[in-house]
Amino acid sequence: MKKTLLITFLMGLETLALAQPAGRQAWNNDWTFTKDGASRVLTLPHDWGVEQPFVQENPGETGKLAWWGQATYSKTLQVSADDLQKDLRLEVDGAFSNATVYVNGHEAGGWPYGYASWSVELTPWLQEGENKVDIVLDNKEESSRWYPGGGIYRNVWLTRTEKTAVAHWGSYVTTRAEGSKALVTLRLKMKADKPQQVTVSTDLLYNNMVVASSSAQTQVYDGRELVQHFTVAEPHRWSPATPELYVARTTIVLENGSTDTYDTVFGIRTAEWRTDGFFLNGAHTFLKGVCLHHDAGALGAVWNEDAWVRRLEMLKTMGCNAIRCSHNPPAPELLDLCDRMGFLVLDELTDTWTWPKKENGYAKLFADWAEKDLVSMIHRDRNHPSVIAWSIGNECGEQGDPNRWWIPQMLTDICHREDPTRPTTAGNDNPWAASQPYAGTLDVYGFNYKPHLYAEFRDAHPQQPFYGSETASCISTRGYYRFPVEQEKGKGWAMEPPFQVSSYDLYAPGWASKPDYEWQYEDAVPECAGEFVWTGYDYLGEPTPFNMDPSVFTNFHSEEEKEAYRKMVASWGQTISDVPLPSRSSYFGIIDLAGFPKDRYWLYQARWRPNHPMAHILPHWTWPGREGQVTPVHVYSSGDEAELFVNGQSQGRQVRNGYRFVWDQVVYQPGTVDVVVYKDGREWARDKVVTAGKAARLAASVDFAGIDLTYVTVDVLDRKGILVPDAAQELTFTVKGPAEILATDAGDATSHIPFYSHALPAFHGKASAIVRRTGEGPVTITVKAHGLKAASLQL
Ligand code: GAL
Repeated sequence: MKKTLLITFLMGLETLALAQPAGRQAWNNDWTFTKDGASRVLTLPHDWGVEQPFVQENPGETGKLAWWGQATYSKTLQVSADDLQKDLRLEVDGAFSNATVYVNGHEAGGWPYGYASWSVELTPWLQEGENKVDIVLDNKEESSRWYPGGGIYRNVWLTRTEKTAVAHWGSYVTTRAEGSKALVTLRLKMKADKPQQVTVSTDLLYNNMVVASSSAQTQVYDGRELVQHFTVAEPHRWSPATPELYVARTTIVLENGSTDTYDTVFGIRTAEWRTDGFFLNGAHTFLKGVCLHHDAGALGAVWNEDAWVRRLEMLKTMGCNAIRCSHNPPAPELLDLCDRMGFLVLDELTDTWTWPKKENGYAKLFADWAEKDLVSMIHRDRNHPSVIAWSIGNECGEQGDPNRWWIPQMLTDICHREDPTRPTTAGNDNPWAASQPYAGTLDVYGFNYKPHLYAEFRDAHPQQPFYGSETASCISTRGYYRFPVEQEKGKGWAMEPPFQVSSYDLYAPGWASKPDYEWQYEDAVPECAGEFVWTGYDYLGEPTPFNMDPSVFTNFHSEEEKEAYRKMVASWGQTISDVPLPSRSSYFGIIDLAGFPKDRYWLYQARWRPNHPMAHILPHWTWPGREGQVTPVHVYSSGDEAELFVNGQSQGRQVRNGYRFVWDQVVYQPGTVDVVVYKDGREWARDKVVTAGKAARLAASVDFAGIDLTYVTVDVLDRKGILVPDAAQELTFTVKGPAEILATDAGDATSHIPFYSHALPAFHGKASAIVRRTGEGPVTITVKAHGLKAASLQL
């Protein structure tokens, strides 16, 4: 019997996967992928879109990658006579999209929504010996507002159980912690081919030690729910700071003596959304959250645990404690990571109910699939201590339609039926919706970009908790600054090359704001439970403000459509460009697509980790040609007073009265900018930027080393080792030894160099390569650039 994998690698915690029968195994290898007449064998997870080159004529909105079309994944399944006495099930964590499964040519099942996890019973179609499983996918164009990916981009599992066993996602743990003990209830939904007498025993494990047990002989029949109760003394409570987990290990012995086991990972915690904020284990906990899309940058939609451990670690260091999975259920392993690493999660169903946002979007599925998708999400995810609310939608058009409020009410009712322990919420942008009966269909009200309504909402809805489900949507490009520095939020970019947005963190599209604007209201309205910044990381597609591109013919079906779009954009007071816009990924991230933090990272860290001594100066200080010109300096710090020096000369000492220190009149001279920050009168932190000379050499370092992937960072340095902030030399990576370069990226949203290229220009002095080990033995990564000293790295 396979044991739940127990590799210790994260903060001393076990790697635990949620709710699994013992007979569940990854089924990712040796799939034959066929698309457009060509076939090859590959290992899942796989995204065919990210394997394509960027094409200027493809819509920037979905990443200029070709993720649409049809494809088939085929695999052989060997079945023994013994297997035929069992139940075999195929589980798919996510496939884009409209999947149909055929077993030996018979249609066995499928699921349309690309973000849902689902399963298909294989047993009825199987024969002893060789069997063929085909999964056919069909991605429609005009079905997404961002890059969705194409293919079976998450894990696939083959599960063997006895015919009488815990049903798929059949375990549900609820806990009640009171004082020095916790009451734990385990509900097990059973499947059975015939009524029979079974013994059901469950041990609750903490760190592999049994802390409570329950065992009973009982009659089961198909669909029966068994309930077991436990008392845990001195429970270890789960929280972002103490991500303590328990396992309920259930063993079922059947009449014929055969046994099955089923593990359910859970945490003990109380989570309360109150009108005075969010409380975890009784302690007020402000939600310092970010919204995240499902892609992992240069890996596309492919789920990879290392990629996400790296991402979450970086967010944790920033002080982030919460994730909103916008706008769809995440890979189940993301929730495992949030449990283990300590993040609170809003698990979200969809971006659309019945009002279409895209011609072939979720509105087409809603009537037939919304309930199934919602139940699938809740049954899969309701044991995760990290999940604190079900988000039933985002900016759905029904907010403004008094005749369709039954829709969110119905979704809320389904959530309450399937999991009475968590509230429902949604992201709402319609300013009118908050004061309408619509608001009452949600247990917790989420505001997208409306902090100015927080106080009004608190006063008008004294019984209803609320928070910022999307905040800021500030846009910027790492390392890019425009002068003069203008305060108006629309003045940080121009519709011309280089199609980048100034990194002073003052700029945002019409509906959005700089972070500081949100914070004024959060501070004035302490009842606000928290915020989820749009977004933690840049993502593929939605390259606002460079997505209004009438010159890309395929964005429009006719001249009339193009003209109508032009008029609509003009009515928002925005301009659109007639030059071809190259951008293919977003500018919203606090961290860029390659995983390099932008300046804003330290702005959030300063606010979210007030006790962590830190200071960050911007911009960089290498501005040949700007000598004698005003070059404003901003400092982000958790301190309360700061003095800035340029080449040793004080630019003045300031008491912080907003969310950043600003010296607007600094005149650029090459040299050194220093800041000394104080807190409560004592020195607290320092930062320094130095003018770089000419690029002289490359430096390569390991940014993150996971089990599967290593992220290598390359910096272009001058003779003294200072990062050259405008360096854009072409870099070429080579590998010696058993490893491959999976992807490269430098965080430039306008780059059309495919992610699979081993050569790319540095972007603002940096680039990243994602390396996968393919065997044992030494690996050397070398990176070269013309005229610069090369760098090598041993893995
Ligand atoms: C919101 C929307 C997000 C994203 C964001 C960009 O209105 O919910 O999905 O599009 O705008 O600012």
